[in-house]
Amino acid sequence: MQNVYESTHPLIKDLVNKIRDINLDSNLFRKYVGAIAKILLFEALKSEKLETREIETWIGKKEFGFLPEENYVFIPILRAGLPMLDGIIEIMPLSKAGFLAMKRDETTFKSILYYKRVPNLEGKTAIILDPMVATGGSLHDAVAEIKKEKPKKIITLNVVGVKEGLYYVSKSHPDIDIYIAQIDEKLNDKKYIIPGIGDAGDRAFNTV
Ligand code: PRP
Ligand code: URA
Repeated sequence: MQNVYESTHPLIKDLVNKIRDINLDSNLFRKYVGAIAKILLFEALKSEKLETREIETWIGKKEFGFLPEENYVFIPILRAGLPMLDGIIEIMPLSKAGFLAMKRDETTFKSILYYKRVPNLEGKTAIILDPMVATGGSLHDAVAEIKKEKPKKIITLNVVGVKEGLYYVSKSHPDIDIYIAQIDEKLNDKKYIIPGIGDAGDRAFNTV
């Protein structure tokens, strides 16, 4: 899994373990998920090139390097990816957002796309946000859907996954980069991640 990067940052590990606590209220759950997404973003963009722009400073006009934020499109997979977007747009407010809504059928475990609205992705970096990679079906299908829009590059930011799901996505999409906070042990017979965090969408939106 050469294109899967698991974070080793202690702050990320701490935040992931905090959201495992089932007594954490949904507000803090969303805040922590947003914070994890921010840190993953730092890791994912560590080699990006800055563009030189001239700005007016207190000592006159000067040139400095800036990230071309408008070339980044963040695409949360609804519902559970939404708190990740909230965290990220705090630090990249000029970036764009698009949306995919997917629901995993809990008997076949196949993902169903029920809404898609993304801006033009040609020449852009598309960054897909989904906290969970269980069977990998949802992320696999989301990447395939986004590839149809011909972005320059695709990155995914994920919070908790298991090897089998990540292997599936990594093998079928070797041309993307997958940044994940934590790789957990296994799936149970209902394809939930163990130990995991439970149902991420329900935890975020009080629908447990
Ligand atoms: C969750 C999660 C992923 C998917 C992962 O979404 O956000 O999209 O499950 O499972 P997979 O790897 O086996 O496909 P869910 O279908 O529960 O929808 P929700 O976000 O609306 O709760
Ligand atoms: N979706 C979730 O929200 N959690 C899991 O553990 C698996 C799929």
